[in-house]
Amino acid sequence: MEQNKLNRSFRIFKTPFDLAKAFAQELVNDINAAAEKQSSFTIALSGGNTPALLYSVLAEKYGSSVDWSIVHFFWGDERCVPPDDPESNFWMVFVKLLSKIDIPLQNIHRIAGENIPEIEAERYSEEILRNTRIFNDLPVFDHIVLGMGNDGHTVSVFPSNKELLFSDKLCDVTSHPVTRKKRVTITGKVINNSDAVTFLVTGHSKARTVERIFKKESDFPASFIRPLHGKLEWFLDAEAGKYIQ
Ligand code: 6PG
Repeated sequence: MEQNKLNRSFRIFKTPFDLAKAFAQELVNDINAAAEKQSSFTIALSGGNTPALLYSVLAEKYGSSVDWSIVHFFWGDERCVPPDDPESNFWMVFVKLLSKIDIPLQNIHRIAGENIPEIEAERYSEEILRNTRIFNDLPVFDHIVLGMGNDGHTVSVFPSNKELLFSDKLCDVTSHPVTRKKRVTITGKVINNSDAVTFLVTGHSKARTVERIFKKESDFPASFIRPLHGKLEWFLDAEAGKYIQ
């Protein structure tokens, strides 16, 4: 059942698996609708354990039934590591989904974590512009899938670098606040120009952050994600949503 608080629609599911199955179904419906219109479908993915569950469900339940040739996969952020590094968000999606579906290589637009970060942020901005629709002089993704950290970060916009939410750049370089490891991330303006944005958030450790985002305007990075013209949904499991239901 869809609910709404502070103009954010959310749905709460009993388990992370129920959440992943429900969102996978919604995403596949949108992909199939795009296929019927002979159009492509651009989606930016996130790393993290909760998004990872979605990728496994997509491969297992829809791996052979979806026309993946119309889907263009992008990443919302990437750790600055080689593509086969266990830390790589690309590698996680490759293992759980891309290696199990029939998709043209040119539809996989990974952030090259092995490149010099500042150069890669520029290169990736161009790759996004070449492969997405443009609206308000900004790229439009059909869907962006986001996770959220306990500190309210999303993609690689952490509380310590919230200026990336308002940057004029499409992609920028940042560092993890604890490990100091470099990352390339899309910025808030790109996310808020998307046709649809869905947060996938599970676990008790997120519950208080979710409560503060939904019960009053807070200044977590995830609070600033409000698509200007697109749909915003929060998919929560019972643990993450326990203080707002
Ligand atoms: C990353 C992700 C990050 C992630 C959140 C949630 O590269 O780590 O892009 O934003 O989505 O940290 O991760 P969990 O679902 O594992 O808590």
